[in-house]
Amino acid sequence: MTDFKRTLITTALPYANGPVHVGHLAGVYVPADIYARYLRLKGEEVLLIGGSDEHGVPIAIKARKEGVTPREIIDRYHHIIKESFAALGISFDVYSRTSSPTHHAFASAFFKKLHDEGKFIQRASMQFYDEQAGQFLPDRYITGTCPRCGNERAYGDQCEACGSSLNATDLVHPLSAITGNVPELRETTHWFLPLDDYQEWLAKWILEEHPEWKPNVAGQCKSWLDSGLQPRAVTRDLDWGIPVPLDGCEGKVLYVWFDAPIGYISATKELTPEWETYWKDPGTRIVHFIGKDNIVFHCIIFPAMLKAEGSFNLPDNVPANEFLNLEGEKISTTRDWAIWLHEYLVDFKDKQDVLRYVLAAIAPETKDSDFTWKDFQARNNNELVAIYGNFVNRALVLARKYHDNRVPPRGIITARDRELLDEIPAIIARVEASLDAFHFRDALREAMSLARAGNKYLADTEPWKIAGSDPARVETILNICLQVAATLSTLMEPFMPFSSARLRGFMNISPVAWKSMGDAAIHAGHPLGEAGLLFEKIEDDAIRVQVERLEEKKKRLAADTRQAAPVKPDISIDDFAGMDIRVGTIVAAEKVAGTRKLMKLTVDTGTDRRVIVSGIAEQYTPDEVTGRQVCVLVNLSPRVLKGIESRGMILMAESPDGKLSFVAPDGKVAPGTVVC
Ligand code: MF3
Ligand code: ZN
Repeated sequence: MTDFKRTLITTALPYANGPVHVGHLAGVYVPADIYARYLRLKGEEVLLIGGSDEHGVPIAIKARKEGVTPREIIDRYHHIIKESFAALGISFDVYSRTSSPTHHAFASAFFKKLHDEGKFIQRASMQFYDEQAGQFLPDRYITGTCPRCGNERAYGDQCEACGSSLNATDLVHPLSAITGNVPELRETTHWFLPLDDYQEWLAKWILEEHPEWKPNVAGQCKSWLDSGLQPRAVTRDLDWGIPVPLDGCEGKVLYVWFDAPIGYISATKELTPEWETYWKDPGTRIVHFIGKDNIVFHCIIFPAMLKAEGSFNLPDNVPANEFLNLEGEKISTTRDWAIWLHEYLVDFKDKQDVLRYVLAAIAPETKDSDFTWKDFQARNNNELVAIYGNFVNRALVLARKYHDNRVPPRGIITARDRELLDEIPAIIARVEASLDAFHFRDALREAMSLARAGNKYLADTEPWKIAGSDPARVETILNICLQVAATLSTLMEPFMPFSSARLRGFMNISPVAWKSMGDAAIHAGHPLGEAGLLFEKIEDDAIRVQVERLEEKKKRLAADTRQAAPVKPDISIDDFAGMDIRVGTIVAAEKVAGTRKLMKLTVDTGTDRRVIVSGIAEQYTPDEVTGRQVCVLVNLSPRVLKGIESRGMILMAESPDGKLSFVAPDGKVAPGTVVC
């Protein structure tokens, strides 16, 4: 670590198609900011780079949906994002945007250089095309069923449910996201980066030269490498993006994942004329903070681009996080299932640190984690208020009461005092080790342990009981407590800069350098300031409002998503006649172990008895359904679900809020009766 002269920290550029939410913050921006602030406090040279990702299909889709231009969308969200990051104290040295002229010029030149040096291959391929919309359908313009997990809302480039990276042509039942039409395939020409040529080099660089990368990151890279890298298209047929800087390429733009990471470099260039020192000097260490869906782009594709270009540094580490869920469900921008930062900042004014604290404490470092409002409240009330705030408050109140609001001198040190004084450097060392290893949760827990130790010390020494009998002893105890409080103002700064500043105000001190933390952080005789509460209790009412808002959202979502289901394209009577639907009787039923929804049904179809696995277990018990007549699609291709072969499908009606109901004849009929 110490052989580096400086660190360049980048944060994934959020798409400017919506505001940022707690998932983005917990996975990327809060950890990156903690890391940047920590290095700055240690006096290291560091830059924190960010910006908005303003190209690509997500922006174009959002614009189309609202009937406005992509430009309007990016202008709106870029400003919301930029301002809310600033309000949360994410200390970017630069927060740029990929629509900036510097970036356009830089990314074009990068592409041109690779093109001119023969680093691309040009290929014709078949791409989906929407005749009615008159355009090709790259990436998210196609939706369909994921061939890996069955999620019906997978995109042409990725399935968000299982995390698979996909080609549009892999999807089962692909549909245009613009018109809902079944797209046709048309030939088009694109430029590809031959990732296969970099396979060997990447494998060596990642797996051999970087054994310190997080297991989740190395694991994803390994699985990509194991399945064999393929040439990857770096251009698209789209009208929104950076035009391909070659003759005869009208209507083609750079693939958003080609231009966006170059944004890290162009943003550095916008920030400082020294940008090349940060990108080319081997003394610079580059660290990319990202979420897990970005791993392949930052560990494989972007490094291959940099290698092809030849003059830039490669990342030293990519501490990618898993995902944060919200109240047990996946966060989604398009479904509005999120806590939006700009809204939080209105509802919880001056509580930036509470959010920073909670998100760092539950950061999804090794596995997905869950944000709940109850937990948010509990961590504020039981940790920030009851531990950190309480310790600081007691130390300051006692100093005012017993020593005229000044730092008292220190007298004879007892074994109990020594124990606490020795704990300070030990805790600092553990915080440092955790931060150096990108273990932000552990680091925060360790930092909090100093406040805990302070509380314990006060409880053990009980200075308020000996104020009359042994004032010199009280002075020593308070001196030590104030050293701890001053140390906390720096130790907590990377995590919670706002309360650290408040604490310094209470203590009337200027920032304590990282290396000055410890038992001489503040001098005897120093006049303290005016103390207030470092943190305030959050009442049930404030939490109830938030929980109710989410419940409202959930209801709306259930209604919207169903009602908005587009009418499917026309089919012929023959298509319909191809479906063999019959009345059957459920003769046995049991829940499928290890699932919430699935029930294994044995159905008498009149011609056979067969097993059908159905997603009804949350709403029906096996007893309720046994003996019931149902309609069954009997000629559906068999599917294996949880190791059980399911042969057919039970027809159900589903209401907007997700309630299921059986579709059945209105009187008893013989099993096997045909539905037509
Ligand atoms: N916009 C992308 C996302 O939200 C991240 C882009 S990161 C960059 O997933 F490297 F491309 F900039
Ligand atoms: Zn999937």
